[in-house]
Amino acid sequence: MSDNMRRDALIAEARRAREDAYAPYSGLSIGATLAFADGTLVTGANVENASYGLSVCAETAAVVKAMGEGHRGGLEAVVIYADTPEPISPCGRCRQVLNELAALGDTDPIVWCANDGDVTQARLSHLLPHAFGLDSLRQT
Ligand code: THU
Repeated sequence: MSDNMRRDALIAEARRAREDAYAPYSGLSIGATLAFADGTLVTGANVENASYGLSVCAETAAVVKAMGEGHRGGLEAVVIYADTPEPISPCGRCRQVLNELAALGDTDPIVWCANDGDVTQARLSHLLPHAFGLDSLRQT
C-alpha cells in the first residue's frame, strides 16, 4: 500500500469514527485515528457533557481507549477529521496526551489533520516542542 493510500485509509477511519461523536453543545463532531506499528488502528470521537468543561476530545478519547486496551508506545500516525472549512489541529491538551503515549515507544508520530478535501501534515514534536514528559519528572 502506498503512503498516500495508507494516509487516506486512516482518514476514512477517522471520518467514520466522527459519526459516533456526541457533540450536542458545540455541534462540532470530530473523529480521530491512531495507527500503531503492529498495524492496529484505534479510533475515537469527541464526547461532550452538560458540564461543558468535562467534554473529552476525539484524540484524547482514542488515546484512553488505546491505552486501556494495552497499547504502550508504537504510535506511528494520528489523524484528526472534522467537516470544518479548515482542518482542525489538535488542542494543546490532546498534544500533551498524545505525547505521553508516543514517548512510551520513543516515536514521533506524523499528525494528519483532515477535512473533506484538505490534509495538513506535521510531526507531533513540531506541534509540541520541548514537551513535558516522563523524563521531566526526574529529580537530582
Ligand atoms: N475537540 C476535539 O475533539 N479535539 C480537539 O483537538 C479540539 C476540540 C472537540 C471538543 C469539543 O467537543 C468540540 O471539539 C468543541 O471544542
